[in-house]
Amino acid sequence: MTKPKVFVSRIIPAAGLDQVKAHCEVDLWTERMPPPYEVLTERVRGVDGLLCLLTDRIDPALMDAAGPQLKVISQMAVGYDNIHIPAAAERGIPVGHTPGVLTEATADLTFALLLAAARRIVEGVNYIKAGKWETWEPETLLGADLAGAKLGIIGYGRIGRAVAKRASGFDMNLIAYDPTISAEDAARLGITLVELDTLLAESDFVTVHTPLTAETRHLINHDTLHKMKRSAILINTARGPIVDPGALYDALKAGTIAYAALDVTEPEPIAADHPLLSLPNLTIVPHIGSASVRTRNQMAEIAAANLLAGLRGKPLPHQVPNR
Ligand code: NAP
Ligand code: GLV
Repeated sequence: MTKPKVFVSRIIPAAGLDQVKAHCEVDLWTERMPPPYEVLTERVRGVDGLLCLLTDRIDPALMDAAGPQLKVISQMAVGYDNIHIPAAAERGIPVGHTPGVLTEATADLTFALLLAAARRIVEGVNYIKAGKWETWEPETLLGADLAGAKLGIIGYGRIGRAVAKRASGFDMNLIAYDPTISAEDAARLGITLVELDTLLAESDFVTVHTPLTAETRHLINHDTLHKMKRSAILINTARGPIVDPGALYDALKAGTIAYAALDVTEPEPIAADHPLLSLPNLTIVPHIGSASVRTRNQMAEIAAANLLAGLRGKPLPHQVPNR
């Protein structure tokens, strides 16, 4: 029996790739950088399945270039803002993603950034490297306490809740903004839901965990930053374009908020000479939320399972809802 043809847009962990190779005729993109859009469009012509990453733009034109035989798109990530979901639905192509397995790793990274920002870890490291550590001083590198501080969580889904669990262990007070959660569910989850303006005004720390959508693009902008406390610390491990980078630069420079720590940026990657990187009160890491060995193996396994299910015409274990 002939094997289905698939394009895999980068080398992924063997835990998933070996499964795909065992059951498919694989065209594998082996370069470190993602395939340019035009090249991707060429390489998907005639494939039955596509295993892609969040760095690939999967739009209606690309789906049409692939052809009507395309049975499944499987993304090795939970976020899918790079894929035109309505276009896939119109063409009857199920889209898979990898929810759940990366929740804890991403919540860990969020908390690592929160602690690093609160206690000025990166500034401390740079302080030593600059030869400034000459004695113990009563008022140098003073940061913020977590115990008793208020953490505002924007988007109370899987990762938002896992962050809440960690914050509870640090005796933080929690509030959340998530218009998709009912009062009954909030009571069951033990979280206080508030309006966005209330969250921004009251929180000592604000952490973002929504998907990137038309509603959340630049949700953190000049206006919302000015509603935050001057002492507030902003964390974003969701998607870069949820935070307007120009507005963030102005707010950090002017002291409108105290500090920001980001795992995701707009644009991504961010250039080493970007103005944001000149600020002392900002820490950025390169989109490593899910980057633990076990998590990436599990993501690859799920991406492979979604791909193979779709090729067999079966329901995907983790299918993106058509909305
Ligand atoms: P999730 O379980 O779907 O949680 C997202 C929550 O935000 C859901 O409750 C969602 O409601 C809600 N929401 C949607 N629109 C909103 C809005 N306008 N305002 C406030 N809340 C809103 O997703 P997750 O697994 O926690 O992942 C969240 C996002 O994190 C992903 O979409 C991805 O972009 C990002 N992520 C980043 C990394 C990284 O490496 N840095 C790793 C994993 C995930 P509905 O369910 O009704 O839409
Ligand atoms: C990573 O950003 C993901 O969405 O899985």
